[in-house]
Formats: sequence, C-alpha cells, structure tokens
Amino acid sequence: MPRVGVLTGGGDCPGLNAVIRGVVKSADTKYGWEVIGIEDSFEGLILPGKTRRVTPYSIRGILPQGGTILHSSNRANPFEYPATVDGETVVRDVSRTVIERFKELELDGLVAIGGDGTNRLAGRLFEMGLPVVGVPKTIDNDIRATDVTFGFNSAVTTAMEALDKLHTTAASHHRVMVVEVMGRYTGWIALESGIAGGADVILIPEIPFEIDAVCRKILTRAERGSHFSIVVVAEGSRPKGGQVSVVASGGKGKGMERLGGIGQKVGDQIGESTGMDVRVTVLGHIQRGGSPTAFDRILATRFGSKAMSLVSRGEFGRMVCLRGQEITSVPIKEAITDYKWVPLDSGLILTAEAIGISMGR
Ligand code: F6P
Repeated sequence: MPRVGVLTGGGDCPGLNAVIRGVVKSADTKYGWEVIGIEDSFEGLILPGKTRRVTPYSIRGILPQGGTILHSSNRANPFEYPATVDGETVVRDVSRTVIERFKELELDGLVAIGGDGTNRLAGRLFEMGLPVVGVPKTIDNDIRATDVTFGFNSAVTTAMEALDKLHTTAASHHRVMVVEVMGRYTGWIALESGIAGGADVILIPEIPFEIDAVCRKILTRAERGSHFSIVVVAEGSRPKGGQVSVVASGGKGKGMERLGGIGQKVGDQIGESTGMDVRVTVLGHIQRGGSPTAFDRILATRFGSKAMSLVSRGEFGRMVCLRGQEITSVPIKEAITDYKWVPLDSGLILTAEAIGISMGR
C-alpha cells in the first residue's frame, strides 16, 4: 500500500485537525493509501521516533478540536536547524537528513500543512526531490495564492465575540476600549472582525493612521451622545511616518519579528488627547485557539481531501488553494511570493468607511 506523510508547521490555528482528517479519510476511503503522522513539523523528519501511523480510527473525534494532534513548531527549518555541539548552538543544514528519513519511512508523498514559512520550506525540499504538496494555513489570511486560508474565519469569529463583550462594558462605563488583534503585517483580522463586531475605528497596517483622525471620531461620537467607542488595532499597524511596534526581534528576517504593543500606544494617546477613560485589551493567542467554525471545518476538509488527490496523482510541488468557490492548486513556488495585503480599494474598506467607521485617515 502506498504511504503518505502528513505534518503541520508554523503557528497553530483552528482547522489543522480537520485538514489532517480530510487527508486520512480520503487516503483510506478513496485512494487506498496509508498515512504516517509526522510530529513537530519537519523536526519529525530530522529526529528519530517522531512518526506514527494515523488511521480513521485513531483520529476519531478530532474534527471540532483546535490545535494539531501532530503538534507544530516554527523553528524546525531543515536548512537552518539549530543543534547543540559541545554546549554551543550551531546552525546546520540538515535538509539531506529529511530526504533520507523520508525514504527510510518508505513514504511516497508528503502533505505539509502550514503558512508561508512551511510552504517555502516545502518548495525548497521539492526542488531537492521531495514529493510534497502544501496546504495553506494561517489565521492571518496573508497567503496570496488563496482567496482564504483556513483558520482565518475562526480567528475573526473569536475577535468578533470579544468585541461584542467589550461593547457592553464600554457602554456601561463610558469608556474607549482599544482591542489589539493579530494578523502580522496585514489587516484582514482587524478589518473583518471590526466590521462584524461593530467597531468605530479600525486601524490596519495597509493604512498608516493619524491619531488625530482617531480622536476626532471618538469625540464626535461623544458629542452625539455615544460616550463610548470601540477601536480595533491590528498588531502590525503603525502611525503615518512611524514604525511597527515590535516586542522581540526573535531572530533574523522580517517574518521572525514578534509584533505587539501598538494597542497600548494608541490607547495612551487617545486617553491623553480626549481625556476619556481608556482600557486596552490584547486578544493574543486566544485568536488561535478553540474549535474551528463551520466555514473553516469545510474549507479545511476540502483542502485535505484535495491534497490527497494531488498526492495520489503524483502532482507534487503544488499548494492547494481556494479560488472563488473552487478548490484548485498552484505551483508552490508561485504561491509564496509576497504577503496578501488588504487592497486599498477593497470593498471591505469602502463599506467600513461608508457606514462611518474611521480607518484612521
Ligand atoms: O501567524 C500567526 C500569528 O498568530 C500572527 O498573527 C502573530 O503575529 C504570530 O503568529 C505570533 O507568533 P507566536 O505564536 O510565535 O507568538
């Protein structure tokens, strides 16, 4: 029986287990393949003892579960893998080990479920001969080749529910509630959760903000009798002419920065300028947890099943994606070129501004 490996890489998000299930069930029901689960992303193909057989029976009940039963890592880069030699950390290229281990396990294909980092690694390994198919995951929705990534809808729903709750306490105390949401360098989570959760101000990285415009909106609302406001700030937002807020450089490369802190800065400035009572909430990793929404369960299942279909046909070096209503695929190399920013002429931005939401400009 042919065998496919499956791994999850990068930051987790709701729906990873639903993709794994989609692969395992399609492999079993439609294609007659065996599935090997690889733990901790590519680390499972670097270190021994980190693989196990997964069957429809062994994965029973995982569809509604958040996280990933295979665990994940955003440090398992086979091309720059840190090893300890004589007490010192040395970075090594162990990509050959990955290929060897893949052969030892007698695998015929690999499904790598992850964000841009994982898919980039998959693309490089494909060029070295690894038969791999990618699946795009991230709450940030910043992968260009797909209309939507799974995990995004669940994160937006979580943020929306938080905004609903903050609304009632904001109104009770006549307060301004500033809510910092994730999204890395793009504003998808802020924009969609802000619209869904009735925000008054939404700040996104694509539109560097002017704090005066934000305060004007809050004061105008107060003058008209709404003595509270909800301000959603994407973690990658920055003031016009200013920089993003970084809590830790975290390593090399822009993608390795840990963003955070802009919510507090915006909150402090609003408090000083308006004299209103301000509270800041950072939603953080809550947005990555919990059960996937129906939308994400369906998208993840379709992605998993499609990935298995590509593997069974030997169509490697591709990443599955959603285009309109259709699940299709693109060459992995083309998939990971640049972030998918919120277009400035996006209907979402136009709608937000048409209903009076300030985008901080
Ligand atoms: O890419 C997903 C994401 O949650 C981003 O929104 C956030 O900036 C980052 O990961 C946080 O990473 P970590 O889990 O390493 O703190």
